[in-house]
Amino acid sequence: MSVVRIDHLSKIYTPRRSLLQRVTGASAAPGFQALDDVSLTIEPGEFFGLLGPNGAGKTTLISVLAGLSSATRGQVSVCGYDVATDAARARRALGVVPQELVFDPFFTVRETLRIQSGYFGLRHNDDWIDEILASLGLDDKADVNMRALSGGMKRRVLVAQALVHRPPVIVLDEPTAGVDVDLRRALWEFIVRLNRQGHTILLTTHYLEEAEALCGRVAMLKAGRVVALDSTAALVAQVGGADLEEAFVRIMRGDPALAGNPPDAARAEDEPTEVQV
Ligand SMILES: Nc1ncnc2c1ncn2[C@@H]1O[C@H](COP(=O)(O)OP(=O)(O)OP(=O)(O)O)[C@@H](O)[C@H]1O
Ligand SMILES: [Mg+2]
Repeated sequence: MSVVRIDHLSKIYTPRRSLLQRVTGASAAPGFQALDDVSLTIEPGEFFGLLGPNGAGKTTLISVLAGLSSATRGQVSVCGYDVATDAARARRALGVVPQELVFDPFFTVRETLRIQSGYFGLRHNDDWIDEILASLGLDDKADVNMRALSGGMKRRVLVAQALVHRPPVIVLDEPTAGVDVDLRRALWEFIVRLNRQGHTILLTTHYLEEAEALCGRVAMLKAGRVVALDSTAALVAQVGGADLEEAFVRIMRGDPALAGNPPDAARAEDEPTEVQV
């Protein structure tokens, strides 16, 4: 069974009518289509990359996956649980590290992680919290208030928060944006370890070197549509063994030599998937 199944997903953001528009009877501005008929599946144990330029729809797709945003059309499930009709179980199967640094400044790091544990009904989770804090180099920050942390440290806490309930699927939305080299390396070591332990990883990043080194398979989004979906090795081979960045640039440009590549959900299912455990 695929751990993530996205089936003909479309998302149109529809603006609410403003007060003035309601008073005057004017209609709201037209909606914006952020995702257009996206289908893909991710298999257990995969390290999967979701790539695309700014505004391609990566965070929108993750928001629908996490149940934070509703699909306009299509179905999405995590570990077999439909995110719309079985939201609580789908949410539990997922740990999401959001792109934005969102946190409550009044709590300490440990309190933040305990609150997150409580959200999943886990009362005695301190051993695991200590382990995560140590793995992310946060052990000496456990009792520090969130507002007193640097940006990189806050990002580590977001990663820790996503892991408190030991989710089988971990989604990282640009986790290394704005973090220093040491943290980036430490973070990847940790994520690779989790992947080897069997966690499925979905990663978005603009660092294509990073994606090439880590991801066994990659989907590329452009203006809300999947324009490539293949193993990283196959995508690199398409550009004569150059690198993933070259493949990305050419696919985004619509290079005819690379056209006809995309993707349907069946393709991902039919091919045996390399499981990196
Ligand atoms: N709440 C919203 N209301 C209206 N439009 C939105 C909303 N959220 C995102 N969008 C639009 O949807 C498109 C996709 O945005 P999204 O954040 O998913 O892109 P992204 O691929 O994550 O980009 P980035 O690499 O910059 O993070 C963008 O054009 C964005 O402006
Ligand atoms: Mg984004």
